[in-house]
Amino acid sequence: MLIKTKNDIAISEITDESVYLKRREFMKVSAGLALAPLLGMPLDSQAAINDYAKLNFSKNTKFAIDEKLTPYKDVTTYNNFYEFGTSKSDPSEEAYRLKTSPWSVSIEGEVEKPGTYTLEDILRPHPLQERIYRFRCVEGWSMVIPWVGFPLGDLIKRFQPTSRARYVEFTTLERPAEMIGQNRSILNWPYVEGLRIDEAMHPLTIMAVGLYGRALPNQNGAPMRLVVPWKYGFKNSKSIVKIRFIEKQPVSTWMQAVPSEYGFYSNVNPQVAHPRWSQQRERRIGEFLKRKTLMFNGYSDQVAQLYSGMDLRKYF
Ligand code: MTE
Repeated sequence: MLIKTKNDIAISEITDESVYLKRREFMKVSAGLALAPLLGMPLDSQAAINDYAKLNFSKNTKFAIDEKLTPYKDVTTYNNFYEFGTSKSDPSEEAYRLKTSPWSVSIEGEVEKPGTYTLEDILRPHPLQERIYRFRCVEGWSMVIPWVGFPLGDLIKRFQPTSRARYVEFTTLERPAEMIGQNRSILNWPYVEGLRIDEAMHPLTIMAVGLYGRALPNQNGAPMRLVVPWKYGFKNSKSIVKIRFIEKQPVSTWMQAVPSEYGFYSNVNPQVAHPRWSQQRERRIGEFLKRKTLMFNGYSDQVAQLYSGMDLRKYF
């Protein structure tokens, strides 16, 4: 992903892990010297796993993968959430300001039951499951994350989409006082993403409310975020406040920003290069050697039929 305003740096230039690690080292040292408050970084912003509520869930083994989990610390400190800044460490350092309670979600458009629902209303009927998924960022890094959530399709059915609902659009909260990155026009806020309705209803697509058995940290998209494991990470909208059912394909924030680089589908596809880099390999966070990127991020058996007959170079 990139940002090309004069105040900003291309995302690919700021994802170099050595830079990131150096910064974390610096933070540790500065925290030790009690400099962090002077730098505007509260010492408690890097909450530990025990600070998050334990969730009740069953383990979903249907889509199980036998790959090593990415450590909790990496999952919660190496993030993309531009509402809090463009560097990987910004979300875990800045997202403590975000108030996630009370929270409501507006259901709009082509549905029989539109309305504003509290988070409790949204979640109540849905038993939670743990889903261990691969996660592939368009920038070339990947993780394996034990999400806790429920099938988005079950939620969608409750609102009874009409026959005109061909796409679903997801909108993130816009609250610049708490999301300090929104005070800069890095992207057109609020962050918007979309799926075709059959993609949204697919059993692999979930709304996540937790990871590693605990409630989601703010930097990972609390209180509720999308997870679509066969697509590049940027399709996974965080901190969702609006779900809109529409007839025409929505224009996502990244399509508005750089249409030549980020298409609507954004399926993980090693055969289709990003205009500025190959997508054939990826670096699993925590590993040294790169590995091959798999078609649809390894979920071809489950999702390839959604795209049969489509030219995936054109519909990237
Ligand atoms: N959602 C919002 N609202 N804002 C963002 O900047 N970044 C996306 C996606 N969802 C983003 C977002 C990108 S580029 C990625 S790779 C994933 O979130 C990162 O999710 P993670 O930080 O939980 O790993």
